[in-house]
Amino acid sequence: MMGHQLPLSVVILISGRGSNMVSIIADAEKADAPYKVLGVLSNRPQAAGLQHAKVAGIATAVLDHTQYASRAEFDEALAERIECWNPDLVVLAGFMRILSPGFVNRYAGRLINIHPSLLPAFQGLDTHRRALEAGVTEHGATVHFVTEELDAGPVILQAHVPVYQNDTEQLLATRVLEQEHVLYPRAIRHLAASKV
Ligand code: GAR
Repeated sequence: MMGHQLPLSVVILISGRGSNMVSIIADAEKADAPYKVLGVLSNRPQAAGLQHAKVAGIATAVLDHTQYASRAEFDEALAERIECWNPDLVVLAGFMRILSPGFVNRYAGRLINIHPSLLPAFQGLDTHRRALEAGVTEHGATVHFVTEELDAGPVILQAHVPVYQNDTEQLLATRVLEQEHVLYPRAIRHLAASKV
């Protein structure tokens, strides 16, 4: 994040619940936060996170991907809408869409994601179930730069949690999510301070 003015300006992209978004917005409101949230955009009109953002007084936008003929057209509209805010950083927080190479390259080095595993382990979906099936004793979450290859960009920060003998998918998901809520604001602060 070389060359930006403090505070770093951030737009958050969501698709659903938005609990990571909530923790980022709360952190950005702290007096010492080196970043601010300009807006939240969802590709799903019904995403619960949109209401949370509104309650927090954050501008919201919806871009329903089902209304676009192709991924490329949606991604073009997405970039145009994001540019209305002109953010330094685009933060994917449970944004469950694959982005086209054109979009990813446009935001190279300014586009980050949180993934519920210790990447490179368990790329893709159902990470908690797969971690249990694999019998790992350690699991966690990763904040990384987004590149053309899914869930494979350079790691910014990771959080580790133990996996217990009698764990269920739900217990493990909750344990990881708690750490995600700490990890994502920390990662954004690191970027704001150009520590990465
Ligand atoms: C989070 O656990 C996030 O790591 C995951 O979706 C959840 C969103 O929760 N993201 C991915 O799986 C991306 N491949 P939230 O909407 O409550 O932040």
